[in-house]
Amino acid sequence: MATKVSLKPDDTEDPFARESNPDPMIRTIAITTGGGDAPGLNAVIRAVVLSALDLGWETLGIRDGYQGLLSPEKYPGGGVITLTRQHVRGITHLGGTILGTTNRGNPFAYPMPGPDGELREIDRSEDVLAALEAHAVDALVAVGGDGSLAIANRFHERGVRVVGVPKTIDNDLDETVATFGFDTAVQFATECIDRLHSTAEAHHRIMVVEVMGRYAGWIALYAGVAGTADAILLPEIPYDIHKVAAKVEDRCRTGASFSIIVVAEGARPIGGRIAVISKEAGRSERLGGAGERVTRELQTLTGREARTVVLGHLLRGGKPSARDRLLALRFGSAAVRALADGASGVMVALDPPVVRHVPLSMVAGRMKRVPLDADTIATARDLGVCLGD
Ligand code: F6P
Repeated sequence: MATKVSLKPDDTEDPFARESNPDPMIRTIAITTGGGDAPGLNAVIRAVVLSALDLGWETLGIRDGYQGLLSPEKYPGGGVITLTRQHVRGITHLGGTILGTTNRGNPFAYPMPGPDGELREIDRSEDVLAALEAHAVDALVAVGGDGSLAIANRFHERGVRVVGVPKTIDNDLDETVATFGFDTAVQFATECIDRLHSTAEAHHRIMVVEVMGRYAGWIALYAGVAGTADAILLPEIPYDIHKVAAKVEDRCRTGASFSIIVVAEGARPIGGRIAVISKEAGRSERLGGAGERVTRELQTLTGREARTVVLGHLLRGGKPSARDRLLALRFGSAAVRALADGASGVMVALDPPVVRHVPLSMVAGRMKRVPLDADTIATARDLGVCLGD
């Protein structure tokens, strides 16, 4: 039988808890953060823990996605932590996640070495269900992106009471107007593009800025337009590099001897492929090289000097913006309210001015890509930004 471990010796009855529990079926909930981290995860954890305490519920934090349940022996204090007020004090503004995360621990396709040493994907979902039962978990809050929410939905189908919270800097989750982490990433990318303007102009160079955005170009589009890029290449619009080169040449003819090109990591040329570095068992393809490909080709086509800057994981780091903190806190408290209202198999979603919840089945396996008729796309075109088409 697994034991609950607390990092601090103060997980006694909460003095501020409400008198009545709205759902006597719930005493203990668990929270997991999965997939790539995003600024705002800690704010969600804080809101879940405090909202749950307010109802007299205990919250267990599972370490590194589901790893804390699958391999508890790997964690000195145990794979599950009883989260107290003290654990979540002063964390709203911190990036990362106090629980840790992983994007290679899908319990339904868990990478394990076979007899030949090669990684194979095996189903360890029963182990998670057994561990949840051993910890007397009555409901689960699963914070994550498309992969983590699909996993949450599968646990819901297996009888777990679960509420999902949408997280990703890529903003590519369906049924919610925004995910937390996106605003912070756009803000940082825009600042970087601002900084690149002066050095690009001083050296008469083409600066290519690669940003995250695997299937959807929200970060590239928003930061590119806000940062006044000259061309923006998105996964949604396969590009013709000759069009981008023509834009650079046009600018030179009109006296601008530099150009800023923003490229989403998932952008690809017409008839070409996404730039993939590797694919390992139990995780998504690792992308990389989209910016460098554009840089090389532009240099060849224009004969001008070009450089690549890859913002990559910098976009996931740092403090969440005020907007992301607020959204994350709203999502966390809405997740607990949803459980208290008896909901399960749902994801909390921003539908301004409210946070509502939608069935996880409507989100799992679906992607919110930038619509080609989006107002921001029209704005970019009106401003003369080249979208590569
Ligand atoms: O969170 C999604 C994302 O930011 C993608 O845009 C990117 O491809 C991926 O994470 C990279 O994640 P990691 O390098 O952690 O595997």
